[in-house]
Amino acid sequence: MTENSIQEYDDDLIALLETLWGEGFMSPGGTAEVDRYLAGVSLAGRSVLDIGCGLGGVDIHLVRQHGARSVVGIDVEPGLIQRCERLAQKYDVAALIRFVCVEPGPLPFDDASFETVTSKDSIIHIPDKKALAADVYRVLEPGGWFAASDWLAGYDGEPSPEMRAYLEAEGLDFGLASASAYLQAMEAAGFTEIEIVDRNDWYRKQARHEREQLGGALYQGLASRVGTEFLGHEIDVWDKMIIALDQGQLRPTHLRCRKPG
Ligand SMILES: C[S@@+](CC[C@H](N)C(=O)[O-])C[C@H]1O[C@@H](n2cnc3c(N)ncnc32)[C@H](O)[C@@H]1O
Repeated sequence: MTENSIQEYDDDLIALLETLWGEGFMSPGGTAEVDRYLAGVSLAGRSVLDIGCGLGGVDIHLVRQHGARSVVGIDVEPGLIQRCERLAQKYDVAALIRFVCVEPGPLPFDDASFETVTSKDSIIHIPDKKALAADVYRVLEPGGWFAASDWLAGYDGEPSPEMRAYLEAEGLDFGLASASAYLQAMEAAGFTEIEIVDRNDWYRKQARHEREQLGGALYQGLASRVGTEFLGHEIDVWDKMIIALDQGQLRPTHLRCRKPG
């Protein structure tokens, strides 16, 4: 790692997220959400690109449970890439998955390099949805699917004061966009068979359960790992996030579209 390496997700935050969402996951729902947004898209024997691989839990699931032939997981944080590599070794799938640390910006792959592109809750960090959609289209083979989940904005203009308070408390480098902005980006890129499935209702309930756990069953164990100050801050983040979810300002969403064959 160099002085200029990106590190938004530090050890304490990762410990908290994995405790809530499962080994290798930095986003809600774990493998069940991956299965849901991939339902009907066969990865068996296919090559897959995963944008924003985080801790690698998604990628390991794609080869072990979905039969992907090969997976390339990319992320901008070198520390996360190292964790991914260790996890892939632990599950004996390192030969099938290549993790690559990339610079933010265009995908560093040739045209038509992958049969499927996926991403779980990472495109929120990439502000230019049009450029990303065009680039995903470029690296996909004709007939290939893009299937993902992401956190979308329930607004096109300014966020509500409560949403703004949540974003400030979260403190991560988010570049949210609305479902209509994603739709326009996918259409402009040339994708067809576009499906956008809102998951706000599911996550509103799930986030309440997570908040209860953070303040209850998980509190002592997490406090001893990450400290009461950090845990108190994260509980505040969850309280603010639940308000943003209830207002419909924050909308976890599944996205799917296909490059014509
Ligand atoms: C919320 S985490 C999700 C990680 C993983 N997909 C999961 O579900 O556990 C978002 C990830 O996107 C990564 N990320 C941020 N900007 C990125 C970019 N421009 N390209 C690729 N990954 C990026 C972050 O480093 C982080 O690992």
